[in-house]
Amino acid sequence: MDSNKIFDIEKILEILDEQVLQKAGRTLNPAEKAVIKGSWDSKEYKEIASDYGYSVYYLQQEVGPPLWAMLSKVIGNGIHVKKITLKNILIKVAKEYYVKLEASKVNNDSLVGKTKIYGEFPKISFFYGREKDINYLKKQINIFKKRCIAITGVGGVGKTLVAAKLVEEILLENSNVYDYVVWKKVERNSSIEHVVTELINIFDLKIDKENLQKRISLLSQQLSLHRCLLVIDGFDKLIQIKDYEEKLEYEDFLIGLTQKVHQSCLIITSQVPLEEVACISTDLPVVFVRLEGLDENSAIQMLHDKGLSGEQCKNIIEIYRRNPSALEVVADRINRFFGGSVQRFFDYRTTIIEPRIQVMLNRQFGTPGLLSSLQREIMIYLAESTSEKLISIPFLKLINDLKERFSLELSISEVITAMDILEQRSLVEGNRKSSKQEVSYSLPPVIKKYILADPLGLVYKRFDRIQTREIAL
Ligand SMILES: Nc1ncnc2c1ncn2[C@@H]1O[C@H](COP(=O)(O)OP(=O)(O)O)[C@@H](O)[C@H]1O
Ligand SMILES: [Mg+2]
Repeated sequence: MDSNKIFDIEKILEILDEQVLQKAGRTLNPAEKAVIKGSWDSKEYKEIASDYGYSVYYLQQEVGPPLWAMLSKVIGNGIHVKKITLKNILIKVAKEYYVKLEASKVNNDSLVGKTKIYGEFPKISFFYGREKDINYLKKQINIFKKRCIAITGVGGVGKTLVAAKLVEEILLENSNVYDYVVWKKVERNSSIEHVVTELINIFDLKIDKENLQKRISLLSQQLSLHRCLLVIDGFDKLIQIKDYEEKLEYEDFLIGLTQKVHQSCLIITSQVPLEEVACISTDLPVVFVRLEGLDENSAIQMLHDKGLSGEQCKNIIEIYRRNPSALEVVADRINRFFGGSVQRFFDYRTTIIEPRIQVMLNRQFGTPGLLSSLQREIMIYLAESTSEKLISIPFLKLINDLKERFSLELSISEVITAMDILEQRSLVEGNRKSSKQEVSYSLPPVIKKYILADPLGLVYKRFDRIQTREIAL
């Protein structure tokens, strides 16, 4: 990438004008362009006014304030654009533009700098927040040389987009460091073997009847020979939680690709935490990150950009746990069915289950599903027992109620393990005021609604529920 091009203000103005047109529906006028160019050169309003033939008052009072407000919406990404912050933000905008431009030219088998790119990267049209997550992950890869990054979180929370943005930024900052950058989206009904074979094929290796172990080791060799950034998006689609044999395959795969010293990195996104399906030694350079919703400012900004306003926006982002894809759907529904009035939407007291979360919950509650019978019962218990008055249930109450409810002698250790797993999957929320206080549990409203409404009849299926006692150990 030609860095002179990035820092050419005329070119940047063109890029900016295009974005203003797309998002604000108008183009920049000459006075605004003058203020932007002058600010780029760190000039005071006085100097800009004399350079471009305007009055200082006009630029400072009438052009500046609405311009900054508009630019904050268009390019601020949660940050307020001001005269002094403008230059840095514009550089970022320009860099993103060039990376997207190059990435759009490079779908399959193409080059960015010296890097060969394979697979279809998701298109990122709007991106809010996540600076902290991305910077943390970049550091883990670039400085701490981690060989595997596992990003987990509920459906729609933004795992795929964070992975895409991370790769985009890494490519932008070190465009010639990697030999290969590969995006592999896992299809449903695929298998580890299939994914490994597809990855090996990229390196033009001949394989015949090698077993999975051998294939993994061939792939690992390639990761040592070339510097690769491999993204495996949607690893959870490979996971069958009850199958022990498969569990070993996940382990072989993750350990096989990370234990040998190499300069490559595997980025995995998954709804199911990988710690749950593979026992991985803490010595291996693997990082697990659980992605939560967007930060408050970005979530609010997202709603504002979709035309919603008012104090109630804060309630919306809390109810939907700042999940960007849920917020998108809810904003869309409020606009379409409630004339954009957040208040009117609240008057009807409804909770919208966004399709991605529904798909995720179907996979949890379906058969075969990802929940054990005990985990399912706990989820149902929490949904039925929490209310507006009792938002969360203390752990000991949960144990006692479960015992009573099912006249079971429950194994406390099994309940503890189940709660940990449910919390790691972001299905329940553990609330701890301090590390010594008893934990209490609640459900995100969307999940509670799914359980109680049971849209596909997967939750209250009789035959899969606990009928007999579990042994107390
Ligand atoms: N940081 C973000 N900024 C803007 N929109 C986002 C962001 N993260 C997610 N989204 C929206 O939510 C949708 C789902 O995100 P995605 O990354 O596919 O979620 P996941 O992989 O966790 O299921 C995206 O298509 C996008 O519309
Ligand atoms: Mg995804």
